[in-house]
Amino acid sequence: MAKTYFDPGEQRAARVSELFARIAPRYDLINDLQSFGLHRYWKRRVIQLARPCPGQRALDVCCGTGDLLLALARRGAEVVGLDFSEQMLEVAERRTSESRSPKDRSPAPPDNHASRITHHPAPAAHCIRADAQRIPFPDASFDIVTVAYGLRNLANWESGLQEMHRVTRTGGRLVVLDFGKPDNLAWRKLYYLYLRLFVPCLGRVFCGSAAAYAYILESLQHYPAQHGVAAKMRDLGLANVRIVNLMGGVMTINYGEKRSNA
Ligand SMILES: C[S@@+](CC[C@H](N)C(=O)[O-])C[C@H]1O[C@@H](n2cnc3c(N)ncnc32)[C@H](O)[C@@H]1O
Repeated sequence: MAKTYFDPGEQRAARVSELFARIAPRYDLINDLQSFGLHRYWKRRVIQLARPCPGQRALDVCCGTGDLLLALARRGAEVVGLDFSEQMLEVAERRTSESRSPKDRSPAPPDNHASRITHHPAPAAHCIRADAQRIPFPDASFDIVTVAYGLRNLANWESGLQEMHRVTRTGGRLVVLDFGKPDNLAWRKLYYLYLRLFVPCLGRVFCGSAAAYAYILESLQHYPAQHGVAAKMRDLGLANVRIVNLMGGVMTINYGEKRSNA
């Protein structure tokens, strides 16, 4: 199979951006199909670890179509979703506005335009188009910084993680969800076979491109996954660094907290 989307070096970001522009309309559908719906559960685990509270500020990096963005906002956090793909952000913005209460979006009563009442607070979520490697916020801006299936896509994942750490406040949480590398060799081989054979078929059927989904395995092979991310978190000085392996390490969550002197 031609390897057209994984391109190390300077062209990486442009190729990744092209890939997500192409798959954006079917991204959510394929996510459900390829994970048998389990990505929803994995994202709930991210939210449990992130522990958003009303009034806290959260940043979801590489927010894509907005799953974590919306989940954080529903728990009362004030959330910014950051992504560089216009097409993915269009979906996120549509979902954000749809998730607002119908009463919030209904036209004002004809007799008294001033009496429009918001019965349920709209999620405090908005999106910005930016590069995850140059996050346009000052140091220590957020209580929570999350990234799901994004770090692996960056031209330089280590500098991406460093940026996320920079914008996290002291005591804040950094949570990373991504494909993992199971320690058990037999399980890892089976899972790689699934990524090599089954997932590109979904890409061919639903996006007309097997290569777009063959990219998952290619990018994973160039990414250190849970152990490398945990080591980098420790290097950055994060406290309480944890790896939460899901399904034997097929999926993985890296968690850390920013220390006062980190
Ligand atoms: C696999 S999707 C994940 C979307 C979402 N977080 C989720 O879990 O469904 C990866 C996202 O990362 C974005 N992305 C990749 N590289 C990026 C970068 N350098 N800056 C900002 N966004 C980036 C892509 O546009 C895409 O929306």
